[in-house]
Amino acid sequence: MLSSIILYAFLLAFPSAAKGQWDASRFTWYTSPASDFASSVPIGNGRVAGTVWGGASELVSLNENSIWSGPWRNRVNPKALGALPSIRSLLSSGNLTAAGQSVLANMAGNPTSPQGYQPLGNLSLEFEHSSSGMSSYTRYLDTYEGTAFVTYNYAGVNYTREYIASYPAGVLAVRLSSSQAKKLNVKVSLSRSKWVLDQHSNSSSSIVGTNSIILKGNSGQSSGAITFSSEARVVNHDGTVSSDGKSISVTSATIVDLFFDAETSYRYSSQTAWEVELKRKLDAAVTSGYNEVRSAAISDNTALIGRMSLDLGSSGSAGNQPTDTPITNYKGSPNNDPQLATLMFNFGRYLLVSSSRDTGGSKSLAANLQGIWNKDFSPPWQSKYTININIEMNYWPAEVTNLQETHAALFDLLDVARMEMATNMYGCTNGGFVLHHNIDLWGDAAPTDYGTPYMMWPMGGAWLSLHLMEHYRFTGDKSFLQNRAWPVLQSAANFYYCYLFTHNGSWSTGPSLSPENSFVVPSNMETAGKSEAIDIAPTMDNSILYELLNAVIQTCNVLGITDSNLTNTKNYLSKIKPPQIGSKGQILEWRNEYAETSPGHRHMSPIFGLFPGSQMTPLKSSSLAAAAKALVDNRMSHGSGSTGWSRTWAINLYARLFEADTAWSNAISFLQKFPTNNLWNTDTGPGTAFQIDGNFGFVSAIAEMLLQSHQVVHLLPALPSAVPTGSVKGLVARGNFVVDITWSGMALTSATITSKIGGTLAICLQAGKAFSINGAIYSTPITATAGGVYTIRPV
Ligand SMILES: *[C@@H]1O[C@H](CO)[C@@H](O)[C@H](O)[C@H]1NC(C)=O
Ligand SMILES: *[C@@H]1O[C@H](CO)[C@@H](O)[C@H](O)[C@H]1NC(C)=O
Ligand SMILES: *[C@@H]1O[C@H](CO)[C@@H](O)[C@H](O)[C@H]1NC(C)=O
Ligand SMILES: *[C@@H]1O[C@H](CO)[C@@H](O)[C@H](O)[C@H]1NC(C)=O
Ligand SMILES: *[C@@H]1O[C@H](CO)[C@@H](O)[C@H](O)[C@H]1NC(C)=O
Ligand SMILES: *[C@@H]1O[C@H](CO)[C@@H](O)[C@H](O)[C@H]1NC(C)=O
Repeated sequence: MLSSIILYAFLLAFPSAAKGQWDASRFTWYTSPASDFASSVPIGNGRVAGTVWGGASELVSLNENSIWSGPWRNRVNPKALGALPSIRSLLSSGNLTAAGQSVLANMAGNPTSPQGYQPLGNLSLEFEHSSSGMSSYTRYLDTYEGTAFVTYNYAGVNYTREYIASYPAGVLAVRLSSSQAKKLNVKVSLSRSKWVLDQHSNSSSSIVGTNSIILKGNSGQSSGAITFSSEARVVNHDGTVSSDGKSISVTSATIVDLFFDAETSYRYSSQTAWEVELKRKLDAAVTSGYNEVRSAAISDNTALIGRMSLDLGSSGSAGNQPTDTPITNYKGSPNNDPQLATLMFNFGRYLLVSSSRDTGGSKSLAANLQGIWNKDFSPPWQSKYTININIEMNYWPAEVTNLQETHAALFDLLDVARMEMATNMYGCTNGGFVLHHNIDLWGDAAPTDYGTPYMMWPMGGAWLSLHLMEHYRFTGDKSFLQNRAWPVLQSAANFYYCYLFTHNGSWSTGPSLSPENSFVVPSNMETAGKSEAIDIAPTMDNSILYELLNAVIQTCNVLGITDSNLTNTKNYLSKIKPPQIGSKGQILEWRNEYAETSPGHRHMSPIFGLFPGSQMTPLKSSSLAAAAKALVDNRMSHGSGSTGWSRTWAINLYARLFEADTAWSNAISFLQKFPTNNLWNTDTGPGTAFQIDGNFGFVSAIAEMLLQSHQVVHLLPALPSAVPTGSVKGLVARGNFVVDITWSGMALTSATITSKIGGTLAICLQAGKAFSINGAIYSTPITATAGGVYTIRPV
């Protein structure tokens, strides 16, 4: 009786996995287990995460986002401050090679690298099944609900495994089942290949017991190590439990549930404290039970993910195939499968929700280079926070695709990162902060790595600060602006008021670089013909300063600040060098038109002002936009877009230039070259490093084609001719306007704009087509009321 009640509940809980027609925009699915990490399916609650491999013996690669390789270290080079004046004078006098050498000798951090992200360990489930005995196998990820599912037949019995990461409960939850009563046998264990402090299990023979497996580990240092405790609770319903001290086995069961959590020293001051929290979460999950944890997790996911929907056309039967097939077929015939782009968009938003949440307290952690999923102790680029493009790109979709809450984790990280580097390296004691091109979970802001094209770049903090301003621009949340954004923006700007020096009449950065590019030293400078990277005031620095100082001015205007914070900022802004245009009509990358060592460089740094900045956007300056186009065209014709994130940056840039078809053709190239079978972005294609930035850059790029909002709410600014018909719901424009658009035959059918907070609403349709708003011909901006809904139709 007990088991039939449970079975009934089970059948209610699961949607049919044997779907006649899969929603090709929503599910990634496979007919075999993952053969590698890049075909496992990811789940995460913004702090604890796993990827499901789905083999006969299950492997779930586990992560907790504060398990990194060790404690904070003071890596500041003590010679840096003393060397600054001489390096500047070398740069000013054109002795670039000597300046670069001095930067390496005096400014590199020691050690050169901050800490790196580490795996937690593995959850293993042994079913006594062999691969050859499994049939009718299906594994899927539902990007809407956030469930991962594995099902197959074995010896005439249907087995299922369902996984979900719960943000409200703070745990991972798993339900295992067999279609016939008492056919499920499973042995559960946790393991880790390094620095295990304690691993054991406790078993209990009660019907609903708290059988637990505990894994404790640390980052390996004798003092200050990051230490964690993790635990899996095995909830037995109708089986028999036993333990061998390391694992728990349940035999002759119909359903077995698991809950998993990990807590670390990063967020708690004592082991007692984090273990209390571990126990609290797991006790609560066990008490609620699987169905309740599951449904609350789904409600939470769908509340965020369901704010938006996108339809770029149906793929018909081409979409009804396991995801690895369209990934392959798309390389040859992309036009048969418009839904792959939609799936990639939905998957990207799902990844952001899964890897970046406000997880309580003030120490949420942002999505890193691999989001939150990493199986290696030496992951590519340490899977840390690279902030000369990659982590910023992670958050490009956050506001425009209506996932503004996910941004909070980045703001927390920025608070942690605002440490003493400005004083220690540059002697600035006015409360300013500086970050270079990488940080770790401690916000370690010292220069990273050892090389002139990347290490000495004092702009990472300023760029990240702009994310708080964008959050305000999208939400209109004045209390956020006052309490959260303003202190950060002020501190970011203060650094430059101390640090900048005057060169040829402009406030200039230096030593700095244009990430991660190099140039050939010209004949009138030292050492002519050599490749160098360190210089004064590269264009990107000036463009970031332009955005930062404008953000400060806008903040002062909104908050009614009229003191010297405002006048000082205006004075500085007037002496930041504007973008210069070179001999090919392109935005210049450096202070002189140096010969480029790699004209097809992957970074688009000089046109930061086009995207993500606003300085070079076409409605603001058609001449700068044209010069930005010349730069990106030149880069692309020489092979840029060579990494996944670089390609998605190009799509965003072309969309912002209203170059719709070029944007779309780059979106196609991206999908053809970079995603793995589980749709993760890679460095240069499957088999190379997983990097999540390109997943997020792809999402913002699609949004950018359909809606922009710099001077105006711009509907369908870059609609590709390959997508003549479609619809989007729930995009967000600056000013907190929620926008739904339906189009057909390359023209608007109708749109609704919902104003969340009221305010001036200026609208542009495509390249300036006429339209009506609530039945009246639109001619000038209107004053929207909070909650007002405005219907736009073509006329
Ligand atoms: C097993 O049963 C579940 C629940 O009814 C169903 O979704 C799934 O498709 C079945 N799997 C197989 C392999 O028959
Ligand atoms: C460049 O700087 C190096 C190191 O200080 C010095 O040896 C060299 O003479 C300088 N070159 C010029 C042209 O000043
Ligand atoms: C997880 O298991 C895999 C496969 O056995 C192994 O290669 C890997 O090292 C394990 N990971 C950790 C973090 O222990
Ligand atoms: C499991 O057993 C260990 C060792 O006896 C003990 O320290 C621990 O508290 C037990 N854990 C649970 C959850 O009962
Ligand atoms: C100094 O600035 C002026 C005006 O912006 C410019 O014409 C000149 O080329 C600059 N000189 C150097 C050495 O950069
Ligand atoms: C900027 O404003 C702060 C208060 O927010 C004030 O303490 C500070 O003196 C001002 N700084 C300048 C340069 O006016």
